Amino acid sequence: MTESIVVDTSLEALLDARISCRAYEDRQVPREVIEEILRLAQKTPSWCNTQPWQVAITEGEGTERFRAGLGEYVMANAQESDFEFPREYQGIYKSRRFDCAMALYSSVGIEHGDRAGSAAQTMKNFELFGAPHVAIITTDEALGTYGAVDCGLYVNSFLLAAQSLGVATIPQAALAGSSKFIHEHFGIDDTRKVVCAISFGYPDTDHPVNGFRTERETVGNVVQWMTN
Ligand SMILES: Cc1cc2nc3c(=O)[nH]c(=O)nc-3n(C[C@H](O)[C@H](O)[C@H](O)COP(=O)(O)O)c2cc1C
Repeated sequence: MTESIVVDTSLEALLDARISCRAYEDRQVPREVIEEILRLAQKTPSWCNTQPWQVAITEGEGTERFRAGLGEYVMANAQESDFEFPREYQGIYKSRRFDCAMALYSSVGIEHGDRAGSAAQTMKNFELFGAPHVAIITTDEALGTYGAVDCGLYVNSFLLAAQSLGVATIPQAALAGSSKFIHEHFGIDDTRKVVCAISFGYPDTDHPVNGFRTERETVGNVVQWMTN
């Protein structure tokens, strides 16, 4: 496991170092490293310890077949997801979304208003940003919103576990918009709902798209203290 040298596994170091990676090296992550990520992510808590996540993972030709099929599907079909996508981005959410998109586009030289350029960048979602692997996360339909919450916790465990092993990741709700294709491709029945995907692999650290960093709100603006 020479690929998985851990430099610093303190929680703060992992949280600081993890970013959404949108360009990858053309190199498989060894199966034993992926299995270690999965072993660590399995420690995630869930309501009543239901552990509703199931994970479909691609490697090698499995990734290429999925990438090709997804690309074709997206060109021919409208988005349709198992969970409702956000209805609207209002106020601060709208401006944070805008800032994040602008940081992404300007990192690769796409100017504000360049619709063709931004659409082309968005399409890279469906190429898995060149990642050699994707994990599809599904939940049990009957567990409802909290099953999805449990899966969200699982996703973060997966991201941090991967980071601790030198593996870069990007969670992608964009792929959940092709849930019909995903159900068919992986043989996932309708009792399960697609939460999101995680594309992963070794990061192309020289690519400018991996060079920008997103901001976070100050703690003071998100926490309400009640002292009496
Ligand atoms: C549930 C979830 C879904 C996401 N879906 C996408 C996506 O479809 N495409 C994408 O480029 N980024 C996606 N992201 C990445 C976010 O844009 C990113 O986490 C956010 O901008 C913060 O940046 P950071 O991850 O680099 O810290 C998603 C993140 C989460 C948590």
